Amino acid sequence: MLRAIDENTITDAAIEQMAATPNPRLKQIMEPLVRHLHAWAREADLTPEEWLQGISFLTAVGQKCTPFRQEFILLSDTLGMSSLINSLHDKRAAEAGTKSSLVGPFYRTDSPAMKLGDSIVTKPSNGLEVVLYGRVTDKTGKGVPNASVEVWQPDETGNYDLQKHDPSEMDLRGHFHTDSEGRYHLRTVAPLGYMIPMDGPVGDMIRAQKRHGYRPAHIHFIVGAPGYREVVTALYLGDDPHVDSDTVFGVTESLVTSVKEKDPASPIPSLPSIKFDFQLAAATAKDMTGRVGADPSQIVAKA
Ligand code: BEZ
Ligand code: FE
Repeated sequence: MLRAIDENTITDAAIEQMAATPNPRLKQIMEPLVRHLHAWAREADLTPEEWLQGISFLTAVGQKCTPFRQEFILLSDTLGMSSLINSLHDKRAAEAGTKSSLVGPFYRTDSPAMKLGDSIVTKPSNGLEVVLYGRVTDKTGKGVPNASVEVWQPDETGNYDLQKHDPSEMDLRGHFHTDSEGRYHLRTVAPLGYMIPMDGPVGDMIRAQKRHGYRPAHIHFIVGAPGYREVVTALYLGDDPHVDSDTVFGVTESLVTSVKEKDPASPIPSLPSIKFDFQLAAATAKDMTGRVGADPSQIVAKA
């Protein structure tokens, strides 16, 4: 019998038509998507004109994407979706570990290998020189030797090297390995916060919502070791004015740090320092990547 389609029956009709989807995971993802999308339209009492406006917005988001600019990831970031996906990823770990945070659009895989104690600053800088130090541990607090610690950050003006220089000139990024007790330390400058790219449709959305568009000062990390689950994260400076209103919701309490003067435990106590211990969860066969960002090779090919 022909079904009467109205604003309530349409949801079951759409889900029933997808019921034969052979891929069980695709089915499991699409059914709630349709349910929640329809519930949203009902709750907002969406008009045809508004839905077309939404489609124009999504079209503009797609058209802004290039091999080195991912406006859809920026939309996901600014809607809190990336942060939610990171939280779900963390929850799936077999053991507790350092929380994930956004990889962002400025990661590249080919940062230089450096020795413990090296400085990642390669350009003249007016920034405050600081030591970053701590340990990489397992869940019991035991140091993880030879763990990989990749670091990248903006400078004291809030700019990444990729925004200032030709990609052949790297600055403020490096790749370290912990010592036999899981310790790391390196020298850098304190970063400044910055605005997300605001020259596209996501920027228009942010302005329409009267949001400031800033990310608080932060330093990105990817930390991993064989047998452990890689963590993509960032440390945030607690005295940044936007630390509690990050436009992309990357900040969580446990990732907030501060610059300390004359810390006697620092490997270079004469310099201000930031201390942070990363905790890695044991790897499981089911672990998947937490690296959700633009393709780094395309970012580097930009010039
Ligand atoms: C960043 O941390 O670099 C970033 C993250 C999300 C959106 C824009 C920038
Ligand atoms: Fe960043």
